[in-house]
Amino acid sequence: MTCICQDEHSMEQHFFQDDVDLSLLHEILVRNRSEAGNLITILQETQDLYGYLPLSALRYIADKLDMKRSKVYGVATFYTQFRLQPVGKHLILLCQGTACHVNGADRIKTALCDELKIHIGETTDDGMFTLMEAACLGCCSLAPVMMINGQAYGPLTPDGARKVIRSLNTEQEQREGVET
Ligand code: FES
Repeated sequence: MTCICQDEHSMEQHFFQDDVDLSLLHEILVRNRSEAGNLITILQETQDLYGYLPLSALRYIADKLDMKRSKVYGVATFYTQFRLQPVGKHLILLCQGTACHVNGADRIKTALCDELKIHIGETTDDGMFTLMEAACLGCCSLAPVMMINGQAYGPLTPDGARKVIRSLNTEQEQREGVET
């Protein structure tokens, strides 16, 4: 017979341990009445809150819903919508849906990877950008398109995509300049 603790322990390797502020999660659980049937919604809102699903948050959710941790981990790893690792300040979702694909999404990907010096699924060393691929983002008329922190950019050219990244970097530098 397999020990559940061992199962849980090996599943926890998928997640990132982070000491996030769990008091913010309390509100999400209250809003969803701490019902096990609302687990997916709770996980979606948790991801919106932290940008990904931290291990400490998943343990907290399992305890509050009175569910086995392995069940919560199983749902978090089953659905591709859930991110298990921290993301950068700007999350770039590059669409790989059909309209974007036929309109040159791969050329945009090459330009972004080159500009950011990372591969798909990675975060820049300064923690500014995470680059991910996504299915249709629902704005095919802008193909090829990327979405950054919920804002759509398109139709993109490789140079246009680089410019967006550079302008976000410039904005950040200006903001830091104002703060110091
Ligand atoms: S295929 Fe890219 S937004 Fe629809």
